Amino acid sequence: MAATVHILNGPNLNLLGQREPDIYGHETLDDVVRRCEALALELDLTVIAMQSNHEGALVDAIQSARGVADAIVINPAAYTHTSVAILDALNAFDGPVIEVHLSNIHKREAFRHHSFVSARADAVIAGCGVQGYELALIRLSRLLGGRDD
Ligand code: DQA
Repeated sequence: MAATVHILNGPNLNLLGQREPDIYGHETLDDVVRRCEALALELDLTVIAMQSNHEGALVDAIQSARGVADAIVINPAAYTHTSVAILDALNAFDGPVIEVHLSNIHKREAFRHHSFVSARADAVIAGCGVQGYELALIRLSRLLGGRDD
């Protein structure tokens, strides 16, 4: 049976394609989801994507993934740098977690250099634009197939 990956996106990522395109690119979140769905077919994964501008809704989504999703890909957006609640929720999830950032947060303002989520993430992908989500799925396909090389 295909493994299920939940792809969670945080605040303002609903504006992808319109918001600071010089930093985040021109593709929309729908484009990202379509790319992920197409790749998931090839990798024999099922992907379910959600986006919220609200911290509590993201915590709820992570809790709902317990026992349902095999892995989580999360771009917590601004909550990356502030949210112990999202970290705690991820710590209660059993399964690989990959943190994705479109931009290279380490090349940007100092307040973006720290991620609470990285303390839980099995991998962090930053600075690869929308391809970061595809790289996360490729990595998960390997991890969920029992390989970590
Ligand atoms: C982001 C980086 C965050 O610092 C920022 O708040 C975002 C997007 C990224 O994908 O590069 O909203 O997570």
